[in-house]
Formats: sequence, C-alpha cells, structure tokens
Amino acid sequence: MRVGIIGGGTIARLFLGHIRRGDLGHARVVAIAGRSQRSRGRELAKAFRVPFVLDLKSLLAKKPDVVVEAASHEAVREYGEPLLRKGVALIVLSCGALCDDALRRKLERAAVKSGALLSVPSGGIGGLDALKAACVAGVEEVTIAVTKPPAAWKGIAYVEKLGIDLDGLREPRILFEGPAREGVPHFPANVNIAAVLSMAGIGFDRTRLKVVADPALKHNTHYIDVKGRTGSFSIKLENVPAPDNPKTAWLACYSALAALKAVGSRVRYGT
Ligand SMILES: NC(=O)c1ccc[n+]([C@@H]2O[C@H](COP(=O)([O-])OP(=O)(O)OC[C@H]3O[C@@H](n4cnc5c(N)ncnc54)[C@H](O)[C@@H]3O)[C@@H](O)[C@H]2O)c1
Repeated sequence: MRVGIIGGGTIARLFLGHIRRGDLGHARVVAIAGRSQRSRGRELAKAFRVPFVLDLKSLLAKKPDVVVEAASHEAVREYGEPLLRKGVALIVLSCGALCDDALRRKLERAAVKSGALLSVPSGGIGGLDALKAACVAGVEEVTIAVTKPPAAWKGIAYVEKLGIDLDGLREPRILFEGPAREGVPHFPANVNIAAVLSMAGIGFDRTRLKVVADPALKHNTHYIDVKGRTGSFSIKLENVPAPDNPKTAWLACYSALAALKAVGSRVRYGT
C-alpha cells in the first residue's frame, strides 16, 4: 500500500515511525505534503527519507493508494475532493472541516463516483459503533463534553475573545455550550471529535457540545451520553495527550493508524 501524508506534525511523525518499523505490513510512505519549504514536514521527510511535496499535483505524481490528512481544515478543503475524484482513498483527521455541509457533500459525492474510500476515524473518542447501531432504531439525544486543561485552549481566537485568564483559572469554566454546528468552527484544532460524533450519529444540528477548561485535569477528558429507542449509554474517556502537542490525544493518533490498517482488510470486527 502506497501511503501519502498531508502534514508534518505529531500524527505524521507517529505514522512514519510505525510504518518504518513494519507495523503496517507492506505500507510504504511515498510522500509528505507540506505548505512551504519552511514547513516542519520538510525536516520530517528528510529524517525518514521520504519525498517532500508542496501541492496536489506533486502528491498525485507519487501515485498514493491512500492519503492520510493530518494537517488542518484548510488541507481538507484543498486536497479532499480532488484526491477522492482521482480514486485515492482518504483518511481525514481534521474532520471539523466537514461541518461545512457543502464541502462534506462534495467529498461524499466524489467518493461514491470514483469508488475511493472516504474514512473519518473515531479519533480521540469511542462508542461510535453503538451510536451507529442505535441510530438505525432512532436516537433522541447525543451530547459530548470536551474537557481539557486550560493550556489546551490557548491560542484560539474564539477563546481569546472571551477574555478569560486561562492561567488563572481555579475551577472549571465552560467556554461553549450549544449545538455542534455552532461550536465546532470555533475550535478548529480541538473538537474534531464532536464533528465525527455528529457525522456518525444525529448530525451537527442535533448533537450538543460543551467545551470546558478545567485546571484540575491532567488528561483530556470527554463524556458522551446517548439516549434513544434501544436504550442509553454513557462513556468517559481519559486521554493521554501526545507529549509534544497537548491538543492531540495519543488515542487519536492510533485511531488514524487503525483506520489505515482497515483500508486493505476484507474482514471487519465491530460495527
Ligand atoms: N479527529 C480527531 O480526533 C483528531 C485528534 C487529534 C488531531 N486531529 C487533527 O489532525 C490534524 C493533525 O494533528 P497533529 O497533532 O498532527 O497536528 P500538528 O499541529 O502537530 O501538525 C499539523 C501539521 O500540518 C501542517 N499543515 C497545516 N495545514 C497544512 C496544509 N494545508 N497543507 C500541508 N500541511 C499543512 C502544519 O504545518 C503542521 O506541520 C489537526 O488538524 C488536528 O486538529 C484530529
């Protein structure tokens, strides 16, 4: 399997390490796509002896079977549809971008037309198997509370506008509460999990999102509650953050690797 990676950060590095160790069988990274010659991806590509490319055309020239997007919402907009149209399978990590209905439909249509797989891994959460099954019968309520230490909410324009002193917080503070449709775009790199939950479940308008900065937390902690005709379930996830990036959970990185493993498999356990 020829693998392309968009982005040269935490997730890209983890991928390269595992593929180099042979943990993904015959998978081989054929290109890393970055934004400029100054991108972190360039150094990463050099360290792992992988070609570094700067645009879609050069990425396609490396003939990937599957591309893992581990970059940003912008990258999903730029690369998503053209890759799928060309029949290249796509694994999307920055799935908050798909809160834009027009973009999501374009990607879905391109996948259906070319037969390429569009995969959005569960990322830093779980329980999507039970949610998908419950949705066939009918689900009334899905809520997710995304709670992280205050440092994880730094550098976000929406949070800065709230004028909260994150370093001075002594108790939990709600930064957002409302429909995922409204909340997801406020936090482009922090609540992708609310997006995948919405898409696997009852959609962005009906999924409720609560975003909390909690100074007592060490781990990013998420609570998911689902109520429907088949019953109800609640899940709590305590995620260890990646050492070099407090916004990204280890579980999310490994969820992407698990999604890549599933691309070539004809056997599936779990919904
Ligand atoms: N779905 C989930 O649960 C989940 C969990 C963690 C992270 N993510 C998302 O996955 C993405 C990658 O995460 P990460 O921890 O590796 O991030 P990171 O910040 O460590 O690395 C991202 C890299 O992508 C590069 N990049 C950004 N836009 C680009 C573009 N248009 N073209 C090429 N390169 C570009 C950046 O320069 C950076 O090197 C982020 O968008 C993050 O929000 C999703």
